[in-house]
Amino acid sequence: MSTLRTVVTGTGHYLPKRVVPNSYFEDFIDTSDEWITTRTGIKTRYYAASDETTSSLGLKAAESALAKSGNKPEDIDLVIVATSTSDHTFPSTATQIQSGLGITTGYAFDIQAVCAGFVFALANANALIKAGEASKALVIGAETFSRIMDWEDRTTCILFGDGAGAIVLESDNMVNGSQDRGVLATDLHSDGRFKDILYVDGGVSTTKTTGYLRMKGREVFRHAVSKLVTSTEQVLNKANIKSSEIDWAVPHQANVRIIQSATQKLNIPLDKVIVTLEQHGNTSAASIPISLSVASDKGKFKKGDLILSHAIGGGLCWGSFLLRW
Ligand SMILES: CC(C)(COP(=O)(O)OP(=O)(O)OC[C@H]1O[C@@H](n2cnc3c(N)ncnc32)[C@H](O)[C@@H]1OP(=O)(O)O)[C@@H](O)C(=O)NCCC(=O)NCCS
Repeated sequence: MSTLRTVVTGTGHYLPKRVVPNSYFEDFIDTSDEWITTRTGIKTRYYAASDETTSSLGLKAAESALAKSGNKPEDIDLVIVATSTSDHTFPSTATQIQSGLGITTGYAFDIQAVCAGFVFALANANALIKAGEASKALVIGAETFSRIMDWEDRTTCILFGDGAGAIVLESDNMVNGSQDRGVLATDLHSDGRFKDILYVDGGVSTTKTTGYLRMKGREVFRHAVSKLVTSTEQVLNKANIKSSEIDWAVPHQANVRIIQSATQKLNIPLDKVIVTLEQHGNTSAASIPISLSVASDKGKFKKGDLILSHAIGGGLCWGSFLLRW
């Protein structure tokens, strides 16, 4: 018996040219490289140039993923972009990237689940392909969080960076069995009661401004570890897989202490965990696809490797996915 699976056939990422070290902040807020490194694990992040936007970063990541997948733009019939920093209120960033690629067929839309956005986007692309509503998808996470930073708030402005990552996800018929490739299970959650611990204090229908990111870091940290662990246990149960079978964890890159704490509780050894936040900081919805692409470029993943990703972000929204490379 065969089953329809969605398989990752290409990855790509793009980071702006401007690298910003921790020492940059020492000039205008009361902080230090030592504090940022020990409390977060972050050493540098990238900021987009004034002529770059979320869609221009996303377009470059998408072009790279497309080239590596061996597809042409016209082969893609679905573009989903996870972002909280869209170029415009509308149209979607996804339609701008679709147009930038020269795609005039199929459909494109954005997903807003903040730092969990890529997990939500991948789960939706997987479901649409399995339902026969698309066959080849570009799933992109792209952000310019530098545009929503309050540069006087030392508790947030040091954490985030800009960037984009993309994957091509396509349908494939697999013979049922434990070595099937592709997305094996996804797990999504949200709970709007927690809005006030991580949000942006502006918006179209409230202040008519963009606003700045606001966060109660310690509370977010606490929710992050417990919710990432629970969601991962649920996604493993759905796929009937034990955490000891995971070859690579590619978590959302917010804080190395969150990553260490969650993976330790899940009994995933640190040498199986991809950590890129030292270089990129927290790129929100872009962090998982950037990490997938960086690790793939380094040749870390073998065909058939079991990969776990999980993420949490504003909302709160959180979730996880399991896929075989
Ligand atoms: C933000 C975060 C790094 C702060 O680390 P923490 O260990 O929780 O630190 P606290 O918030 O308890 O603050 C400890 C002290 O450091 C200070 N501090 C905060 N930011 C600082 C900075 N950039 N430099 C120096 N000191 C800083 C605080 O003001 C506080 O000082 P006080 O004790 O005098 O009040 C951490 O809470 C975190 O990563 N949370 C999750 C955030 C996140 O991942 N958000 C995105 C989710 S997608």
